[in-house]
Order: sequence, then C-alpha cells, then structure tokens
Amino acid sequence: MTAEAVLAEPGRAMRLRLGTHATHEKLDKRIMSADPFGGLDRYAAFLRVQHALHSRVDRYYLDPQLEALLPGLSTRRRLDSVLKDFEDVSGELPVPAVEVDEPVDVPTALGWLYVVEGSNLGAAILLKTATKTLGLSETFGARHLVGHSDGRALHWRNFTAALDAVSLQPEEDVRAVEGARQAFAFVYDLVEREMPLA
Ligand code: HEM
Repeated sequence: MTAEAVLAEPGRAMRLRLGTHATHEKLDKRIMSADPFGGLDRYAAFLRVQHALHSRVDRYYLDPQLEALLPGLSTRRRLDSVLKDFEDVSGELPVPAVEVDEPVDVPTALGWLYVVEGSNLGAAILLKTATKTLGLSETFGARHLVGHSDGRALHWRNFTAALDAVSLQPEEDVRAVEGARQAFAFVYDLVEREMPLA
C-alpha cells in the first residue's frame, strides 16, 4: 500500500497496521521458519533479536515527550524482562546493543512503538508454544511474552486509543508510517543475522 493510500484510512493505529501488514506477515513467516522453539539454542537466538529490538526502542519508552503523549508508556518497557529471559535460558547476559543517540523524532518514534507494542499481541501464541515445547514459563525464560494483568486486548486498546489521539500534521503521519516500516526492517535484518533457517 502506498503511503498516500494508507493516510486516507481512519485511525492512526489502523493506518499503521495497513501500512505494515504485508511486512509483518513476511516477518512472522521468516521467524517461524527458523523454528524458534526447536530448542533452547534457537530460542536464545530469538531472544537476541528481541534484545536488540527492545534495546533500540528503550529510550523511546523513557522519553518524557512520548510519555506525555502516551500515558504510562514507561511501564510498558519489556527490555528488563528480555534480559532476564536471556539469562534464564543461557546463563549469561546478551552482548550489549550498540546505542543510538540521535535526537528523538516523535512521529518516527510513534511508528516504532506501534510495532513493539503490537508485537505483544502475537506474543500470546509464542508464550503458549514456549511453555508447551520448551517448558518455559511466565517467570522463567518467557517473561517478555507475558500479557498485561489488565488483559492483552485492553492493554493494546488503551495504547492504540492514545496513539490515535496524538495530533500530528499529515507529513508527520507519513513519518510515523515510515518509522513503523523502519522498525519491521530492523527486526527482519536482525532475524536474518541471528536466526538461520531451520
Ligand atoms: C519481533 C517480532 C514481531 C513483531 C515486531 C511483531 C509485530 C506485530 C504487530 C505490530 C502487531 C499488531 C498488528 C495490529 O495492528 O493489529 C502484531 C500482531 C500479531 N502478531 Fe506479530 N510481531 C512479531 C512476531 C510475531 C510472530 C513470530 C508471530 C507468530 C506467528 C506473530 C503473530 C501475530 C499475531 C497472530 C498478531 C495478531 C494478534 C491479534 O490480532 O490478536 N507475530 N505483531
């Protein structure tokens, strides 16, 4: 879908969904074909991807400007859970990610946050599989896949309502879609690097 066609759709979260739907599908398929639950070493590779992603966005979760737009944003961080999961599974901490310190562009960051928050929806299935096939749990190895105590769906709806309510200029909305696409491309590259095909 072109950026112009996406912008004609109502609701920012829906526009971001439509603008990245095909990329998401391609990513899901690529991750699953690497058999991430085929053994703890494969799952650790998936956690390295998650670690790099959550490290990349952590400064957005801690940004006061973004927190003002998306109340409670800092409580949604999952980096610490990813670190604990990695330690549970491999007995060590992952290699620290390279830090990005360019200034935060709010619309671009909103696109990235859409992707990372959205990934917690799909995490429901991943948690079930991790529990069943690898014996992991909400308190060992699969903490970062756990849903919020309010329920995943409500937690997501609260996020998308706040995201929809942010006032942006049309050119900023284009940057939000680009941010979400960058985030998916970033994850795809990581998967290619860390998760060889099974
Ligand atoms: C780090 C990797 C991943 C990222 C960044 C990601 C991102 C996202 C995003 C942004 C959404 C929300 C879409 C919306 O607007 O409704 C989503 C939903 C979803 N994802 Fe993923 N995803 C990832 C991995 C996976 C994997 C491996 C699967 C497994 C097959 C998966 C399955 C799903 C499903 C089923 C939903 C929809 C859930 C629902 O509507 O209830 N995702 N994901």
